[in-house]
Amino acid sequence: MENEDRNNIEYDFFISFSNHDIETVLSIVNMMEQQYGAKCWFQQKDSRAEFVDAIMEGIEHSSAFIVFISPESANSYFVLNEVNHAVEWRNSSEDFKIVPVLIGPAELDINDAAYKRIRFYLGRLNMCFYNRNEPLEVLIRKIFEQAGYVLKGESLRESLYHSSEIEDKRLSAQNEILRDFSHEYFQEFVQSNAVILDVGCADGSNIMLRLGGIEYGRLLGVDIDKEQIAKAEKKFGSETNKFIACDIISDDFANVLEDYVDEVEITGFDIIHISAVLLHLSEPVKLLRVLRHFLKKSGYLFIQDEDDGANLVYPNSKFFDRAFAIWADSKESGDRHCGRKIASYLYSSGYKRISLVKCGVSNLGLDGEKSNALWDIYFNYHLWLALEEDVFYNLAKTHKMLEEYKKDYDQRKQEYDEGKIFIQLGFLFFIARK
Ligand SMILES: C[S@@+](CC[C@H](N)C(=O)[O-])C[C@H]1O[C@@H](n2cnc3c(N)ncnc32)[C@H](O)[C@@H]1O
Repeated sequence: MENEDRNNIEYDFFISFSNHDIETVLSIVNMMEQQYGAKCWFQQKDSRAEFVDAIMEGIEHSSAFIVFISPESANSYFVLNEVNHAVEWRNSSEDFKIVPVLIGPAELDINDAAYKRIRFYLGRLNMCFYNRNEPLEVLIRKIFEQAGYVLKGESLRESLYHSSEIEDKRLSAQNEILRDFSHEYFQEFVQSNAVILDVGCADGSNIMLRLGGIEYGRLLGVDIDKEQIAKAEKKFGSETNKFIACDIISDDFANVLEDYVDEVEITGFDIIHISAVLLHLSEPVKLLRVLRHFLKKSGYLFIQDEDDGANLVYPNSKFFDRAFAIWADSKESGDRHCGRKIASYLYSSGYKRISLVKCGVSNLGLDGEKSNALWDIYFNYHLWLALEEDVFYNLAKTHKMLEEYKKDYDQRKQEYDEGKIFIQLGFLFFIARK
């Protein structure tokens, strides 16, 4: 069969599957279509002999063929026919890709006898494996990569970061990990009438989470990002919660705070909280001095920050070293050794009674979801995405490291899931007084 005209492509993917797996397959296909705009040839029933022409056309008018492999599909006459046609079609059509995706029970290896017939056709192709402990996006990303499917513009990145339900769940698990990290200090030091300032509050969700279940008087959040502030105001703004867009290292910042304390008639803040912000600033001491001026004598300054020197992994391997090195090379990662400098920043800006109350958050004792979320903070597909964003100083070197990193990813993740790897991430929490 000749592939005369690849311009006839109407679909991105032809989906081959057994009805037995409809639920899993639908969840994947729906996400591919709705979130990433992929166009799929997808028939919600097993292919039937009478549709044979339509099926052959569907395959020939698609850029790639995805077959979801389970013991049922691997022995389905119809699926095997489709696979057979796809393999033949590929012989005449160079760009046509076949992507086998193993979705069968985890305990069944692809070499199991149940897969013998389909292996006959697909044995030498790379497989994608569906790991149910990972967000679906990870699998979809592997499928796209293997199918050579180029995503249009921002859709994947945006959806991975912001809009997908699973990603939201993952981010909120991450936020919960960090909430648990410092919650006890909020519980101990926030009084019911406390006025709190959150510096670099983004969309306000983190400070709100950390204050969850705690009674307080007022909250002011400030951030340079106007969109985030608008979100914060919409989500959490109230009589007592206020969010203001401003640059915390500009000279005007003191005026913003002055206006606020005048407006709500207070002498200063009871709690000032700065989380994951100092590492991004060129002049942290300048900011800390301004904040000190607005901290009440009886007040507390809370700082949460990071230091890669406090990242610990056992057993360690190049995989983890590479991940940390890749992040360290990102222009968006800030000062990866900020944590160790904070005490000296605080002394220089005149603070007293400085203490490091917590250092390191580890996977010990975390349940499945949180354990995954901790892993994701550094080791998930954000690394791939960061690459697309071109945020690295040393592009060539980092690309190379990333290639090596990818090769080991599945194995290391599996070992981590099996509880064979201890990870501590270098988050630090400081408390200081005026
Ligand atoms: C990594 S986020 C941390 C957000 C939040 N505090 C948390 O713990 O998740 C850093 C935040 O600092 C804000 N930021 C950075 N430089 C700033 C500046 N000069 N003025 C105000 N906000 C700034 C950013 O817009 C961003 O929302």
